[in-house]
Amino acid sequence: MSPDNRRLGILVGGGPAPGINGAISACVIEAVKSGIEVVGIFDGYAHLVKGETEHTRLLGIDDVYRIHSQGGSILRTSRTNPTKEPDGVKTALATLKELGIGYLVSIGGDDTASSASALAEASDGEIRVAHIPKTIDNDLPLPGDMPTFGFETARHVGTELVLNLMEDARATSRWYIVTVMGRNAGHLALGIGISSGATVTVIPEEFRRSQVDLADITDVLESAIIKRRVNGQRDGIAVIAEGVAELVPPEQLAEIPGVEIDHDPFGHIRLGEIPLATILKRQVQQRFAERGESFNVIEATMGYEFRSASPIPFDIEYTRTLGHWAVTFLLDESPAENLKNGGLVCMLQRTLTALPFEDLRNADGTPKVRIVDVDSQLYRVAREYMIRLESKDLEDEEMLAKLAEATGMTPAAYAARYGAAAML
Ligand code: F6P
Repeated sequence: MSPDNRRLGILVGGGPAPGINGAISACVIEAVKSGIEVVGIFDGYAHLVKGETEHTRLLGIDDVYRIHSQGGSILRTSRTNPTKEPDGVKTALATLKELGIGYLVSIGGDDTASSASALAEASDGEIRVAHIPKTIDNDLPLPGDMPTFGFETARHVGTELVLNLMEDARATSRWYIVTVMGRNAGHLALGIGISSGATVTVIPEEFRRSQVDLADITDVLESAIIKRRVNGQRDGIAVIAEGVAELVPPEQLAEIPGVEIDHDPFGHIRLGEIPLATILKRQVQQRFAERGESFNVIEATMGYEFRSASPIPFDIEYTRTLGHWAVTFLLDESPAENLKNGGLVCMLQRTLTALPFEDLRNADGTPKVRIVDVDSQLYRVAREYMIRLESKDLEDEEMLAKLAEATGMTPAAYAARYGAAAML
C-alpha cells in the first residue's frame, strides 16, 4: 500500500559528513525518474517542529546532478530533536503532510535515526521513512561491519593532516597532542592513528570503564613520551579520541578554568566545547615541570576540518548507491511486515538491504552503538604499531631501568607508578 501523499521529502540531521550531497543527489534523480516530486527540507527538523513549511524547496535533477562531489549539505543540517520538543513529532508529521509528503528520506546518525523511527511509528503508514546512515564517527552498528558514509573521507583527510603534523614534529623536535572527533567510539582516532603512523593513539574503549581519572589518561601519554625519549626520539604525535573527555568525571572537568559543560538537544555533552587537547597538554607539561624539565608540545583539535570535506570516491559511490536504494525501498509496494513504516537502508556484502528501526535500539530504547573491539586481532595489531608503555617493558629489566632513570625514579617505583597505564 503506498501513502496518499506522493511527494518525497529529504532532510539531514546531526553533524555534517562527507557524502551527504551524493545521497541527496541520488535520491532526487531516482525519485524524479520514478515520477515523484521531491521536496528538499532545510535544517533537519528545525522548522517542521514549528509547523513551518516555507524552509523547503522543490528539487529537480538540474539542481543536484553535479553536487555528488561537494562536501557540506545543500539542505544544511541541524540537531533539532522532534521527540524533545513539545508536540514535536505530531507537529512535524502534520507539517510533512501539509507539504504533500508521503515518503521521507532522513540522512543522519543514531540520533536522526531515532527521530526517523519515532516519526515512522507515529505516522502509522501515512509517511514511509528511509533512513540513510551517516556519521564520521562510524558508530552505527551497520551489518557486515560496513562503515557509515563519511567515515572513510574523514579518515583520509585526517590522516593527511596528521602526517603533516608528524613532519612538523620531526623538524622541530616537539610533540603534538591531537584530539579527533568520534563521540562514543574511537574508530576515527584509531583509523587516523594507524594510517598516519602516529606514535600513540588513545581511545575511550581501552579503559574498559565508564569513569577515568584525568591523571590516568595523562599517565598513558607521559609514559609513551618517556619511552620514546628512551628510544632516542624527542618528537612524536599522540592522537586522542574526543570521547575520552566523556570518561573524565564531570566534577573534575568543571574544576578546570574555562571548561563549561553544555549539552545538545539529544542530551550529549558538547565535546567540541571541552578543550581536551589543551587540558592534556597542560597536564603532561606539568608532569615534566615537576621534574624540572620543560616539554615542547602543541595541541590541535580535529573534526570540523574534515566533516564537510569533499568525499573520496568510496563515499561518493557509497552515497549514490544508498540514495538510489532509499527511493527504491520507499516505493516498494509490498514491503516486509517489519519494514512497512520504513527502516534503515544499508549494504551488506555489496547487496542492498534494510533493517527495521527496532534493530538499532537496545531493549531499554537507547541507540545501539558500535564501538572499537579492543579484544580484536585488528586492535592488537594497531597497538603493535604504537610506541607506548606495555607490560612487557616493565618485565624487561634493562628497559625498566632506562625508563626509571629518565624520570629519576627507582625501577620499582616506576613500575608501581605507571603499571596501570601499561596494563591497558
Ligand atoms: O557528527 C558527530 C560529531 O562529529 C561528533 O564526533 C562530535 O562530537 C559532534 O559531531 C560535534 O558536533 P557539533 O559541534 O556540530 O554539535
